[in-house]
Amino acid sequence: MSTEVMEIRGICKQFGGVRALDSVDLKLDISQPTALIGPNGSGKTTLFNIISGFLRADEGTIRWNDQRVDGLDPRRMVRLGVTRTFQQRMLFDRATVAENIAVAGLAAGLTGAELARRVDAGVEAFGLTAWAGRLSASVPFGVARRVAVAAATMSSPRLLLLDEPAAGLSDEECLQLDSTLRGLIDRGIGIFLVDHNMDFISPLCERMVVLANGKLIADGDRNVLKSPEVISAYLD
Ligand SMILES: Nc1ncnc2c1ncn2[C@@H]1O[C@H](COP(=O)(O)OP(=O)(O)O)[C@@H](O)[C@H]1O
Ligand SMILES: [Mg+2]
Repeated sequence: MSTEVMEIRGICKQFGGVRALDSVDLKLDISQPTALIGPNGSGKTTLFNIISGFLRADEGTIRWNDQRVDGLDPRRMVRLGVTRTFQQRMLFDRATVAENIAVAGLAAGLTGAELARRVDAGVEAFGLTAWAGRLSASVPFGVARRVAVAAATMSSPRLLLLDEPAAGLSDEECLQLDSTLRGLIDRGIGIFLVDHNMDFISPLCERMVVLANGKLIADGDRNVLKSPEVISAYLD
């Protein structure tokens, strides 16, 4: 079975005097759900922004299934199967849950009966049936997160980047998000996620990579958390 791979080489990004990413090399295989962890300000969101085309790297290359993709804009990346969700809430508050998912479907080029079918399927698959007609502003936090993931899947991603999807969720909401993401993994969608909640990440992601001060300092299974470099990065 051929697998899909993203190969990140020598990525650097500077903001004024801050070196947000310092020569990051990373190969992601979509068959292996992967977590990106690291202290606040270590460059995780910047890396997501660069991979998904929202930001240009100063240096380095990104290959997605052997095609050079660094410098492509987010729409092109989405068309190539790379979609991301945002750390902050990014829903249209005055539209319903179903409408929010439909807008994402329209942006992905779906129309008519196919759009309606895909929105219905997304609502169902993400456990949103009871919420579909509610205004997004009025739904609980955990539901809004699932809406954002459902919206992101309208473009039929092959690799989904999730920036802190579990932040601020209750334990029960985390479990619901976990089963949502397992459903995506079962469908063969690659998951690359940032989060701080180890109870959420550990069972879901077999691989963990750690950023500190813009450098990749560890790459392995959950045991990376015990490495002295990682412990000292979190204490700094
Ligand atoms: N648009 C920006 N302008 C200036 N500095 C930024 C910008 N985005 C991120 N940074 C800085 O880059 C560093 C990495 O930030 P970020 O990627 O958001 O980290 P993380 O997601 O790991 O918390 C931080 O020092 C942050 O202040
Ligand atoms: Mg961040």
